[in-house]
Amino acid sequence: MNRQRRIGPPILTVEDICLSFGGVKALDRVSFEVREHEILAIIGPNGAGKSSMLNVINGVYHPQEGSVTFMGKKRHRMRPHEAAAQGIARTFQNIALFKGMSVLDNIMTGRNLKMKTSFLEQALYWGRARAEEIEHRRKVEEIIDFLEIEHIRKTPVGRLPYGLQKRVELARALAAEPQLLLLDEPMAGMNVEEKQDMCRFVLDVNDEFGTTIVLIEHDMGVVMDISDRVVVLDYGRKIAEGTPEEVRAHPAVIEAYLGVAH
Ligand SMILES: Nc1ncnc2c1ncn2[C@@H]1O[C@H](COP(=O)(O)OP(=O)(O)O)[C@@H](O)[C@H]1O
Ligand SMILES: [Mg+2]
Repeated sequence: MNRQRRIGPPILTVEDICLSFGGVKALDRVSFEVREHEILAIIGPNGAGKSSMLNVINGVYHPQEGSVTFMGKKRHRMRPHEAAAQGIARTFQNIALFKGMSVLDNIMTGRNLKMKTSFLEQALYWGRARAEEIEHRRKVEEIIDFLEIEHIRKTPVGRLPYGLQKRVELARALAAEPQLLLLDEPMAGMNVEEKQDMCRFVLDVNDEFGTTIVLIEHDMGVVMDISDRVVVLDYGRKIAEGTPEEVRAHPAVIEAYLGVAH
């Protein structure tokens, strides 16, 4: 595969992450790396700790143990907005958009962190703020074009079918121009055609913007098609890691998926 050759050194390293909620160990000594430009899939049964892992990476959850190193910077505690400022964006398992707002306005919210000019500066230096606004619009229009959603740019998000809402959420995440994009079940609940579209967009984002992607996905067909490597979680533990082919043939993975007694 051509894509494999572009993969660079690790940009994200999670090491020995332990995260508990009361008595529940959501993550138990989980370590792995994400390499520059790759598409890494995290798979595993429900409750395995997949969403929790994304929440640790983007600073929503603070693990009791372990460390996260992103772009050479090791950190133990970080807030979500700091993760975003460092170049990590995400979409959610349940769509988190402003349903009453238009597609365009929702995507603009993804630019918030990029907006440097304060309100005072906007009042004092109208020209600079105006130039910045034009640049934001240009970037947002580029993403709208890229994801082929021109025709719905003025439509309130709540009126769109589910598959398109997922695409708008991807657009908003891309508006932040992230180095690392975290996608929590981007294809859940989609029909076959919507899944094919989303697969194509994920691959295009990876190819054209060079964005590194970590995605949680249940559909093994999708995982086999688009991911470079796979990490498998089960009951908060990493039970396997490797290429899609390696992971699919791994006894522990087969066992976890077939529900053989643990
Ligand atoms: N905020 C939370 N409070 C309490 N328990 C949680 C919380 N988030 C996740 N968990 C628990 O952690 C475990 C892993 O959940 P999650 O990461 O959502 O799994 P997955 O995404 O693989 O289905 C589950 O037992 C879940 O109930
Ligand atoms: Mg989940």
